[in-house]
Amino acid sequence: MHRRNFLKTSGIAALPSLGAALPFTGLAAQSGQAAQPDPVYFFFDGPFYNPKEFIARLQQVNQAAPIEADFYGGGGVVEALEKKFMAITGKGAAIFMPTGTMANQLAIAVLSGDNTKVFVQDTSHIFRDEADAAQSIHNKRLIPLAPNEAAFTLAHLQASIKSLDEGEVFKSGIGAIAIENPVRRCDGRTVDIEEIKKIAAWCREKGYKLHLDGARIHLASAFTGIPVTEYARHFDTVYISLYKYLGAPGGAMLCGDKAVIDKMRHLIKVHGGTMYQFWINAAMALYHLEGLEERLKAVVKRSAELFTQLNKLPGLQINTLKSGTNIFELQVTKEIDLAKLRDALRKEYNIYVGNRQGNDPVKITVNETLLSRDTQLMVEAFKASLAKARA
Ligand SMILES: Cc1ncc(COP(=O)(O)O)c(C=O)c1O
Repeated sequence: MHRRNFLKTSGIAALPSLGAALPFTGLAAQSGQAAQPDPVYFFFDGPFYNPKEFIARLQQVNQAAPIEADFYGGGGVVEALEKKFMAITGKGAAIFMPTGTMANQLAIAVLSGDNTKVFVQDTSHIFRDEADAAQSIHNKRLIPLAPNEAAFTLAHLQASIKSLDEGEVFKSGIGAIAIENPVRRCDGRTVDIEEIKKIAAWCREKGYKLHLDGARIHLASAFTGIPVTEYARHFDTVYISLYKYLGAPGGAMLCGDKAVIDKMRHLIKVHGGTMYQFWINAAMALYHLEGLEERLKAVVKRSAELFTQLNKLPGLQINTLKSGTNIFELQVTKEIDLAKLRDALRKEYNIYVGNRQGNDPVKITVNETLLSRDTQLMVEAFKASLAKARA
């Protein structure tokens, strides 16, 4: 919800070391932190490296298999990553994009053609966090559906199209429909696959194109058990982020039919997004994709075990969100001083819990760093820290 605030208040900038629960361990030792166990972060969707760790990881990746550079996004490891994403999404083509924002915007622009109306969730990144790019750059009119809800239904979409049709004298055509899944502004809640199927079948019948903002689609897949290809199958274009849980410093992949994706290289240039080389991002993402699904499944299992045990401790309660993914809510009873609890966990156990935003419960985000610590040790750490935090 308030990510930028969170980054300020969590003190993340001052973090000593951000490791990752992946093969090629030992980054903590290399950065002079061998005495501490690897950190466990209850924020972030995946590994997050400080510059020193990032360079060390890239070095390891290159030593395992020399990285091949691209040339303006063509060839080398970028092409290898594009091929990998074609397999992940089951689409005929894929292209590296400098940002997810550009991937979303160019996808909806191309899918809509000359039609101006684009339907989105009211809570979506496209509607709320892309600086009105659709309106100001691409001449599209975003129509937000289902205010404050994670998802809209086919009935919402149909009602909106009908009311526009009846209420407008000078009619304009229907462009694309975009669905974000999972929904970041709704704490990672997923969109029901059955509703996606209904929407997709109706759109196909009408000739409307569908775009998936799947920045974190692997998280949806891990928590629902629905394969990424099954989600992707219902959409004409699919975007997946390279930095939410794939360890790259930025970047995105846009997948779809060749005819659509072939238009993108020129459009990326037109919008100033063509960089000389993207290989650093691509190499890191390709490395983190290896074994990702298994690791995320392990995170799902491990977090369920951990939270069941933690909920037996007096003083705290961790709640699962309905249709949620990797974000949970932590409540402490009034005898527990949250600041002291966070402090003890951080200083003595290298466990990082985010801060409360206003009166909201604390958000607990699980990621691969959880896999580096034994569940029983985590329970002991919380038990001892709760004792210290009792007023
Ligand atoms: C759901 C969603 N879509 C799109 C984006 C945009 O990605 P980028 O930061 O690469 O522009 C983000 C980034 O936060 C996101 O969370």
